[in-house]
Amino acid sequence: MPPVKFSVNGRAVELQASPDTPLVYALRNDLGLAGTRFGCGTGACGACTVLVDGNALQSCDTPLWAVEGRNVMTVEAWETDRILAIVRQAFIEEQAAQCGYCADGIMMSLAGLLSRNSAPTEPELTAVLDRHLCRCAAHMRILRAARRACNALQVAA
Ligand code: FES
Ligand code: FES
Repeated sequence: MPPVKFSVNGRAVELQASPDTPLVYALRNDLGLAGTRFGCGTGACGACTVLVDGNALQSCDTPLWAVEGRNVMTVEAWETDRILAIVRQAFIEEQAAQCGYCADGIMMSLAGLLSRNSAPTEPELTAVLDRHLCRCAAHMRILRAARRACNALQVAA
């Protein structure tokens, strides 16, 4: 079986794994990128969200064959990705998490949105957040962090 080749956070990787392996397992178990969380495993909670060629995807629901030759970005990219760093800082400043399990996936979705649209409307913001579950009910803090990230992006532009 040939290896699956793709890039993660700008680094080329080759994995000797079944092409049907969910991306979240490859990220966490083979590549040590534990910031991508495993929640429901059924594509329903958003905890495992990563960007694939800039689009938010649930990595529990994405087989490795689907990312062959593509660029995957995980939350660990905050050190090099300007927009993700701004989103992360906004989450810190708003203390936008209780347990934090949902936060990494939400930050990835927001980073994907803000990369395409630096000034989203409130409905656009809430539409992105709607795809994520937060069992700790930190929704209002998360929404404040999302707004803060938008404002910070405007100032930095
Ligand atoms: S773990 Fe992937 S959507 Fe819940
Ligand atoms: S902060 Fe705990 S699930 Fe969202």
